[in-house]
Amino acid sequence: MVSRVIPVDPFDLVIFGGTGDLARRKILPGLFRRFCAGQMPEGSQIIGAARSELDDAGYRDMVADAIAEFGGQQACEAGTLDAFLSSVHFVTTDAKGDGGWVELNSKMRDDKVRAFYFSVGPSLFGDLAERLHRFGLATPDSRIVVEKPFGHDLESAKALNATLAQHFDETQIYRIDHYLGKETVQNLMAVRFGNMLFEPLWNAQYVDHIQITVAETVGVGGRGGYYDKSGAMRDMVQNHLMQLLCLIAMEPPAKFEPDAVRDEKLKVIRALEPVDWHHIVRGQYGADDDGPGYRDDVEDPKSRTESFIAMKCHISNWRWAGTPFYLRTGKRLKARASEIAVVFKDAPHSIFGADAGRHRNVLAIRLQPNEGMTLDVTIKEPGPGGMRLLDVPLDMSFADALGPDAEEAPDAYERLIMDVIRGNQTLFMRGDEVEAAWAWTDPLIEGWQARNDVPKTYDPGSSGPEDALMLMHRDGRKWREVKA
Ligand code: NDP
Ligand code: BG6
Repeated sequence: MVSRVIPVDPFDLVIFGGTGDLARRKILPGLFRRFCAGQMPEGSQIIGAARSELDDAGYRDMVADAIAEFGGQQACEAGTLDAFLSSVHFVTTDAKGDGGWVELNSKMRDDKVRAFYFSVGPSLFGDLAERLHRFGLATPDSRIVVEKPFGHDLESAKALNATLAQHFDETQIYRIDHYLGKETVQNLMAVRFGNMLFEPLWNAQYVDHIQITVAETVGVGGRGGYYDKSGAMRDMVQNHLMQLLCLIAMEPPAKFEPDAVRDEKLKVIRALEPVDWHHIVRGQYGADDDGPGYRDDVEDPKSRTESFIAMKCHISNWRWAGTPFYLRTGKRLKARASEIAVVFKDAPHSIFGADAGRHRNVLAIRLQPNEGMTLDVTIKEPGPGGMRLLDVPLDMSFADALGPDAEEAPDAYERLIMDVIRGNQTLFMRGDEVEAAWAWTDPLIEGWQARNDVPKTYDPGSSGPEDALMLMHRDGRKWREVKA
C-alpha cells in the first residue's frame, strides 16, 4: 500500500509553553516527523514562546535534544534536522505580562496560516486569548489550540468558553483530546460506517453490553499535584473515555464533517443517564516493590482521589435502551491496554443443547498497543466425539494487514496539528460537547464527595479493585482480561 502524504499550506505556528514537557515530548518531535514525511512545507515557521530567556540558537539546541530523546526512529535524509531547525525560532513572552508580544507580532506573516498552540497551564488560556487579540496577532483566520484540562467542572468550562468566545469564533477554537487523533480511534468510525456488516447489529436488540477499558501501567509519577485535584474521572473519563463512548454509540452522521460528527456525539452525551452510585467503583493503587502507593505519590496520606474508576452507564435512546456500557480506567494496572469490546447477545436458541455451553460473538477493537480487531466466532471443536463448541478469534492486527504503513501512522498530536493547519475541526471537541460532558460528570463527583466515599485500595499490577469485578459479576457478566 502506498502511503499518501498531502502537504499542508505553509504556516506560522506559535507554541506557547514551547519549553514545557508536552512541547518537548510530543509537539516538537511530532512536527519534526511531519517535516521528514514531507507534510510540513518549506517556508513554515515554528515559534516557541515562554518566559525563559532563550535566543533562537538556544531554543534550537533544546528542540534538537527533545527530538533526540523523544523523536523515535526517523526515516529522514541527512541534513533534514538542520533544515527543520532553521524554521524554528523563539520569542521570550509572558502570558501574564506585556513582554515579548510586539516582537512576536513582528514575526507573524499575513500570507501564512496562523496557529497558536496553548501548551501552558489552563490558568493562562484566558490571558493568552486576550493578549493575542490586544496585540493584534489574532486575525479572523487564525486558530487557537487549547490543551486539556478544559475546565475543572461545568462552571469553569462555561467560563473558559465564554472568555475564549470574547476573542475567537468557535470555528477558530481547537479543543484537543488527543484520543481523537489516535489512528485506531478514527478506525472506530471507519469500522462502523464503512462496513455493511456491523451497523445492522449495532443496537440494543443484538448487543448485550459494551466494555471500554483504558488501562495504564504508569502511576501518577511527577504529576501528583495536578492529578490529585482531578482523579481518573476528570483526567480520563470526562474526556477520553467519553469520546470513545460517543464514537461507539453515536448515530451515523450524514457526512464526515466537523459539525455533523460533533452533533451526533453531543446527542450521545446528552442521552447519558445519571449513574447510580452503586454502579461506580473508585480505587487507589497501593505500594509495591516497584514504587510507592498513590497517596505517597501525591504526598497526601489522606487523599480520596481515585486513580481507578469503573462504572456502568446507560444511554437513554432508541438504539441503546437497556444495553449497559461498562467503562474502566486506571493507573498502575497489570498492562497498558486500551480496548473496546462489543459483546453480542446469545443466539436465541441453541440447537446443540445445554452441553454446548454459552457462546457469544465479541468484536474487540484494540486501541493500543498492537492496534487491531478480533471477532470471536463460535465453531465446532475439531475431532470426533460429538458437537462441542469453541470460540475462536478472527484476528486482524493492523500492523500485519497494513505492513509498514501501519508503523508509519502519525502519532495523535502530529495528525491533530496538521488538521489545525488544514482548518479541519472534525477531531476536536466543540464547546457544547465539553459542557455536556461536565454536566454529566459533575453530579457524580459531587455525589461521592457528599458521601465521603473512600476509594478502595488495589494492588499495583492487578486489574483494579475487587469491587470492579463484582460490578460485572452482579450482572452475570465479566470484564475481559487486561492484557497487552
Ligand atoms: P509544563 O509545566 O512542563 O510547561 C509549562 C510551559 O508553560 C513552560 O514552557 C513554561 O515556560 C510556560 N509558561 C509558564 N508560565 C508562563 C507564562 N506566564 N507565560 C508564558 N509561558 C509560561 O507543562 P506541560 O507541558 O506538561 O503542560 C502544558 C499543557 O498541556 C497543560 O495545560 C497540561 O494540562 C496539558 N497537557 C500536558 C500533557 C503532558 O503530557 N505534559 C498531557 C496532556 C495535556 P517558562 O517557565 O519558561 O515560562
Ligand atoms: C492524558 C492524561 O490526557 O492521557 C494522562 O492526563 C494519561 O493521565 C494519558 O496518562 C494517556 O494517554 P495515552 O495516549 O498514553 O493513552
